[in-house]
Amino acid sequence: MDGRIAVLASGAGSNLQALLDDPEVGPHIALVLSDRREAPALDRAGAAGVETAVLEPGAFASREDFDRALAAFLEERGIAFVLLAGFMRILGPHVVGGFAERILNVHPALLPAFPGAHAVRDALSWGVRVTGATVHLVDGDVDHGPIVLQEPVPVHPDDDELSLHRRIQEAEHRLFPEAARMLLGGRLKVEGRLVHILKDVPG
Ligand code: GRF
Repeated sequence: MDGRIAVLASGAGSNLQALLDDPEVGPHIALVLSDRREAPALDRAGAAGVETAVLEPGAFASREDFDRALAAFLEERGIAFVLLAGFMRILGPHVVGGFAERILNVHPALLPAFPGAHAVRDALSWGVRVTGATVHLVDGDVDHGPIVLQEPVPVHPDDDELSLHRRIQEAEHRLFPEAARMLLGGRLKVEGRLVHILKDVPG
């Protein structure tokens, strides 16, 4: 397995930590990039000795300029794979097109239910008994690309957004490194919306 990974994160970075701690994935993480200078994820990267970078959207004239700069930044650093670990920006066509089938996102619901930034709150208000975590490949639409792995998480009667999100994150921390290992190992074969998970590395 080779391939330099960039992890993009805006927040606490618990998923980043799970990726850093994975013995197969962690050593490939070459860059942690955030859109927020104060993101605790950057401290986790620093503690692991991984290069960090901040690209603040406010510093760019338009979304397109930000997208183009991000794509160029990743390409200049020889990044092969991009993992979105709580990155709260929508990627534009330069990044999505430049890294087609090489970007994974983790989402705190069983897609296609509850896409968007408030998935845990939305699932609770809908009254579902089961929600969960999804890892999917990223395409041009938000929380939409082909699904790689999912894990259900039951909703308890006394759950609030925080307690439910914590339990979903435990599932995320299992699923995301597992899916990243598959991507790195060339084991994901995409056919339209379907992702076939190969047992052995092709070739
Ligand atoms: C995760 O729950 C992820 O599903 C969502 O944002 C959260 C990020 O958490 N997209 P963390 O920064 O990895 O702790």
